[in-house]
Amino acid sequence: MQYLILNNGVKMPILGFEVHQIPPEKTKQAVIDAIDVGYRLIDTAQAYDNESEVGEAIRECGVAREDLFITTKVCVGNYGYDNCKASVLESLKKLGLDYIDLVLLHRPCSDYYGAYRALEDLYGEGLVKAIGVSNFNPERLTDICLFGREVIPAVNQVEANPFNAQYIAQANMEKNGVQMEACEPFAEGNNDIFNNEILVRIAEKNNKTSAQVMLRWLIERSIVVLFKSTDKDMMAENIDVFDFALDDGDMLEIMSLDKR
Ligand SMILES: NC(=O)c1ccc[n+]([C@@H]2O[C@H](COP(=O)([O-])OP(=O)(O)OC[C@H]3O[C@@H](n4cnc5c(N)ncnc54)[C@H](OP(=O)(O)O)[C@@H]3O)[C@@H](O)[C@H]2O)c1
Repeated sequence: MQYLILNNGVKMPILGFEVHQIPPEKTKQAVIDAIDVGYRLIDTAQAYDNESEVGEAIRECGVAREDLFITTKVCVGNYGYDNCKASVLESLKKLGLDYIDLVLLHRPCSDYYGAYRALEDLYGEGLVKAIGVSNFNPERLTDICLFGREVIPAVNQVEANPFNAQYIAQANMEKNGVQMEACEPFAEGNNDIFNNEILVRIAEKNNKTSAQVMLRWLIERSIVVLFKSTDKDMMAENIDVFDFALDDGDMLEIMSLDKR
């Protein structure tokens, strides 16, 4: 596994596993499988309703807590200072942890400034090792970087895939010192992305699959990538992306797929 260093010095795996849309009864096994395959970054959210099952997997997986990187996200219904603080304490309880590696605000609406200030205080208390945001466009991100009280978000998690490359958003994050994290790296499988002619051709040239090319393309842009699957074979396929590199021609061809 490759790691990146966030703006506060925290080390984060560049590739991770997310449990969105995995039903609670399947979450524990999926997380145990993912950790067994080699993933160390596990991403959940209050809104996914499976933090307790992620916690069970963490306790049963056989990997030391300090070797795992756990993210959760605060749902909009828990915004405002007091609600956000109480909800993160509840997430800690559900996960069965005494600290969370990264907590994000799920979306920029409602009283997200109040919620962000609660995250800053939880960070100050050591209950959260890094704080950040998700689905923040460049304007919202710049605003919170300028006017959040004291802690610049470490991460902004946004959709990114060959059809929605997010080059402008990435440049804005880099300017603000915020690490970009990509969810939906396969565009949820829409528009027949796995069979896209350009991606398949690049995959064949590299003896890889189109899924591996999409993940590698994000990793080469120094973006943390998350994907979701309950299939252990796909988990294994998706981690097998550290033994090849895309060349400039491949990167340019993939750039041509961006529909912004
Ligand atoms: N921050 C956020 O707000 C946030 C974050 C993440 C997701 N989301 C939401 O979550 C939803 C799904 O996002 P996602 O991240 O799950 O999408 P995704 O990663 O782009 O696509 C997931 C799909 O790809 C399949 N897949 C995984 N690895 C594969 C491989 N190697 N070969 C072929 N297929 C493979 C999965 O199959 P199986 O599952 O069948 O194995 C699943 O159907 C979206 O509706 C999005 O809005 C939101």
